[in-house]
Amino acid sequence: MKTTKVSAATRERLLRAARKVMKNAYAPFSNFRVGAAIITSRGQIFAGCNVENSSYGMTNCAERTAIFSAIAKDGPELQIYAVAVANDHGVPCSPCGACRQVIYEFGPNAVIFYQGEKGPKQSLITDLLPEGFRLK
Ligand code: THU
Repeated sequence: MKTTKVSAATRERLLRAARKVMKNAYAPFSNFRVGAAIITSRGQIFAGCNVENSSYGMTNCAERTAIFSAIAKDGPELQIYAVAVANDHGVPCSPCGACRQVIYEFGPNAVIFYQGEKGPKQSLITDLLPEGFRLK
C-alpha cells in the first residue's frame, strides 16, 4: 500500500467525521475532547473519541478508539489510508507517541491530518514516527 495524495474531499469528509465523534468523548478529567476518523484503503470510515478513566493511565485516545473500532467491526486486515484528528479547543494536537505506533502498525504509509502550531497540517506517519517498531 503506497499513499501519497489524499483528495481535499476525502480530507474534509474525515475531518467532519472526527469533529462529529469528538462530541461523544468522555473527558471529565482533562476537559479536552478529541475525535479521530480513519479511512481504510477500501474507503470505509471509522471514528473514535477519547475515553478517560479515574485511573488516568487507562485513558484511550481518540485515534486508538477509531482503529480498534475498525478492527472490532471488520477484522484485522485493516489498512489505514489516512487519519484526521480534531479537538474541541482548536489547539495544536497531533497523535501521541502510543497512537503513532498503533497507526503505523496498520498504516505504514498513512497520511495524518491534524491541527499544528500554525494551523491545519498534514504529515506522513513515517515522519511523525521515524523508525517505527515492527515485529516482522
Ligand atoms: N488525546 C487524544 O485522544 N488524542 C490525541 O491525539 C492527544 C490526546 C486525549 C487523551 C486525553 O483524554 C486528553 O486528550 C488529554 O490528554
